[in-house]
Amino acid sequence: MSQKVSSRISGFYKRCLEERLRTIEALGLLDEEAIAHLARGGGLPTAVADRMCENVIATHALPLGVALNFRVNQRDVLVPMAVEEPSVIAAASNAARMVRLSGGFTGEADPPIMTAQVQLDDVPDVEEAAARLAASRASLLAAGDAAIPRMVARGGGCRDLEVRVLSAELGVLVVHLYVEVGDAMGANLVDTVAEAVAPLVQRITGGTLGLRILSNLTVRRLVRVTASVSDDAVGGAEVAVGIARASRFAELDPYRAATHNKGFMNGLDAAAVALGQDFRAIEAGAHAYAAMSGRYRPISAWERVPGGLAGRAELPLAVGTVGGSTEVHAGVRAALQLVGARSARELAVVLASVGLASNLAALRALASEGIQRGHMRLHERKRALSAAASDEAAAPSSGEGKRFAPERGELPRAAQQAEGGT
Ligand code: MEV
Repeated sequence: MSQKVSSRISGFYKRCLEERLRTIEALGLLDEEAIAHLARGGGLPTAVADRMCENVIATHALPLGVALNFRVNQRDVLVPMAVEEPSVIAAASNAARMVRLSGGFTGEADPPIMTAQVQLDDVPDVEEAAARLAASRASLLAAGDAAIPRMVARGGGCRDLEVRVLSAELGVLVVHLYVEVGDAMGANLVDTVAEAVAPLVQRITGGTLGLRILSNLTVRRLVRVTASVSDDAVGGAEVAVGIARASRFAELDPYRAATHNKGFMNGLDAAAVALGQDFRAIEAGAHAYAAMSGRYRPISAWERVPGGLAGRAELPLAVGTVGGSTEVHAGVRAALQLVGARSARELAVVLASVGLASNLAALRALASEGIQRGHMRLHERKRALSAAASDEAAAPSSGEGKRFAPERGELPRAAQQAEGGT
């Protein structure tokens, strides 16, 4: 995104859907095809859907919104989010506005290194086999590279090898190959490497070959983000203290950590879905990493610092700006244009920032008025929409041929207020 573009668009939520789209269009981030796609209401032609997966009978839609106010590594970013849960987009935008007052989010992502696993059972002497594998490192990496020549030509390829003995008694070991995958999420590349090196690994170890597949616990592909907020921005020192206490609660209790992390993933997943990422892989990696110390812990933490709070998060994040549905899905292409990330690493930092924003918004609400007031306002809005929709269904003659597309003025007052603050 050009530096001239600001993600701070005042009163965006007050505009009708068409006006919002025109505002986004005027930023100059989207090409004609993307604008036309969004103007048609988004979605996915069934003919395209039919090529994406099996036994297709229709498509399934979600609302697509834009989170505002994000500034990530000094760049203003508009974040597309696909989510059915009310308040996720408003909450992320609100928290991003608070963080923005202190300079925005800062983060960095590791090089895009994925993990291939090759399982071996019944290895006669695991320690000796591990030593032989280490000695064959160069030929194993070369065999892996030979299977992905195009990625190697683009600067990626096999970088490292690790042998983990899982059970000396049972002769079970696993070989990890670490593969740099460029701007792809990389699952197919890594699976290709795992299958290509497996026969060689089997010959070297003498064991029985097992699985050959990526690990979603991508510990060499971590992202780290930080943010700070002032007491004033969150609504006062008392609220800030409450946020820090809520964070400590999650540190101490896995039951709370699960919900804390759910709130973090609310925003991250919504953006990941809009951007065509494999959110199941992201979720699997995030929660496995959260439990890596032997106890399930929070992905993010907020600490009291003089005059405010310092927040941080660290998690594995395998995302791509090429490959997968980025190739076929017009909505995903539009979302990628909007977010404007120039690399998978940059995208990872944006997504983790959205997670941290969602987490801050949730803790702030919980530490002040509680989550229900805002939620109920938005539920009221949803109820109003479904009542209006059933009225229309019951009286087709009054709206024949017209899609149900309520304008802002049609919403009840409480519902309108609930949208506010972005
Ligand atoms: C609801 O979707 C998410 C929260 O439960 C997260 C949290 O409790 O931190 C509000």
